[in-house]
Amino acid sequence: MRKLLIAGNWKMNGSQSMALALCRDLVSGVAPLTGIDVLICPPFTLLHRVSEAVSSSIIATGAQDIDEHEKGAFTGQVSADMVRDAGGSHTILGHSERRVLYGENDERIAAKVHAALSRGLIPIVCVGESREQREGGHTDEVVLGQLDPVIGQCGIGAFSKGIIAYEPVWAIGTGLTATPDQAQEVHSLIRRRLADHDADIAARCRILYGGSMKPDNAAELLDQLDIDGGLIGGASLNEDDFLAICRAAADRAVPKSG
Ligand code: PGA
Repeated sequence: MRKLLIAGNWKMNGSQSMALALCRDLVSGVAPLTGIDVLICPPFTLLHRVSEAVSSSIIATGAQDIDEHEKGAFTGQVSADMVRDAGGSHTILGHSERRVLYGENDERIAAKVHAALSRGLIPIVCVGESREQREGGHTDEVVLGQLDPVIGQCGIGAFSKGIIAYEPVWAIGTGLTATPDQAQEVHSLIRRRLADHDADIAARCRILYGGSMKPDNAAELLDQLDIDGGLIGGASLNEDDFLAICRAAADRAVPKSG
């Protein structure tokens, strides 16, 4: 039984006033919706304000990254405990922008997953191939090559709580979206790899799709058997778009079997 999760990744966008106005609209917009989970991941500086602003609603909050260390001389970094202290319950990890722009490798991402889980944060582990990798026929190998180190370092138990986001890099912020069939194929691959380790965890683990999910394509993506929600970038900054995606999820709130 998997409940759909719609998660917003604001990336490096927002201000105090924008965040409060957006949260006010989202809180009233999601009030009538049932059967789904909603998450917002603002920049660190807004996390506390956003957490307070949505506290009366079904909306949870999270970070976009954490450091793998607990505390100490790591200038510029933010720990899992700090995210929890600011009201967050989740953290995105291994986003392709972290991998590509900041050189995060699989080992470091797995260490962050471990840190998140051991400090009570739910990780959303991002995987996905570049355009060249897809065109070269390497999608499966790349995606599993990103997933396996997390399973190897943290154990399959990491995904009894942890969430996975399949985000084809070529679809992020580009307006290009994987077709429902292309996305379902990779989601099913991921679930089968989890099932090789533990069938129950595989059946329950939520696998989100991310990459230009918008109101006009959300429904057909969310209809796929192994797509359990969305990680939304651009469209999460617009209340009408984000709420339309949340409504598409709520319309499909009958839990998927598995
Ligand atoms: P996008 O971003 O929806 O703007 O493509 C998704 C993400 O990077 O999480």
